[in-house]
Amino acid sequence: MKGSGTGTAITGIGSAVPEQLLSNDDLSTIVDTSDEWIKTRTGISQRHLAPPSLLLSQLGANAALRALDMAGITASDVDLILLATSTADDMFGSACQIQALLGADHAVAFDLTAACSGFVVGLVTAAQFIRTGVYRNVLVIGADILSRWVDWNDRSTCVLFGDGAGAIVCQANGENDRLLGFEMHSDGSLAQALSISYNGQSQTLQEEVAIAQGNYESIKMNGKEVYRFAVAKVPEVIEKALYRADLTVQDVDWLLLHQANQRIMDTVAERLAIDNAKVLTNLSKYGNTSAASIPLCLDEAVRSGRVRPGQIIAASGFGAGLTWGAAIFKWGK
Ligand code: ACO
Repeated sequence: MKGSGTGTAITGIGSAVPEQLLSNDDLSTIVDTSDEWIKTRTGISQRHLAPPSLLLSQLGANAALRALDMAGITASDVDLILLATSTADDMFGSACQIQALLGADHAVAFDLTAACSGFVVGLVTAAQFIRTGVYRNVLVIGADILSRWVDWNDRSTCVLFGDGAGAIVCQANGENDRLLGFEMHSDGSLAQALSISYNGQSQTLQEEVAIAQGNYESIKMNGKEVYRFAVAKVPEVIEKALYRADLTVQDVDWLLLHQANQRIMDTVAERLAIDNAKVLTNLSKYGNTSAASIPLCLDEAVRSGRVRPGQIIAASGFGAGLTWGAAIFKWGK
């Protein structure tokens, strides 16, 4: 749908997680770990895991339906669907499958890969389409099923991740732009710190024509490097986004970080001098759900009444790429 350029408001949010649960005690029967180690080092108590029959696109569609319902619009009102994921059902992407499941017959849909920064990148991308007047109603979905890509024999990574989806509806909002500022970065020179890399074996098709065929490996992570990166870059990127919004840390009602590790969240809050009471967290129940973690946490905070319309949220995603970004927005119209 075409129209004149307007501001953006986030008018609906929803989330969905698989029913299956795996507690830290359950995990300690699979690898050499303990509830105490996992809780102390990460803050995670349990994670929801997708059963084999559950498609990423179905999980994403379930979250999207709740967001549409809150926004009071139907799937056929949606102009654009952005799916932030690293774990699509299909290498060609899953956004179109979500479009079909929703019956969003007028929408164009595509995937966006920016790992755990994907939701923030998706929100910023949605706002650009709305600001230019090209689209009025955009669904941004962050969904990941990383349990399919974890090495369940590697205790240094398998304890961290969980599966889930979260979605928001971004709508044209006239003069009132609720996305107040943003800042995004990437540094591919650090890609090896966190990766799901492709391992291709050379195959010769004919003389002097060779290709690679193989599979993706499981998640490899240098935990210490990712930790150092996150606590250095996240406070910085939030401060830059606040500066762009002409705001300061004192104006922030809620700090909403990618739910990777409680220690990262505590350190970032401390470096920004933001009180712990203003930090939204639900990591303990879900683990690190990658692109889903920010909307999954915000959905709970909005539905429980903690986050109220007009409040200022400083959100930051960070992860593989490496990528990191922050968006400062007001919740609601
Ligand atoms: N249970 C018990 N012991 C363990 C476990 C486990 N699950 N995992 C590792 N250990 C052991 C190690 O083998 C090591 O033992 P050793 O001293 O005998 O060699 C010891 O615990 C310490 O291991 P470290 O890796 O040094 O532990 P660290 O304190 O760095 O904590 C952690 C590891 C939690 C992964 C931390 O580095 C971290 O939080 N990093 C950030 C990771 C992250 O958040 N990644 C995701 C962000 S991006 C995204 O979301 C995709």
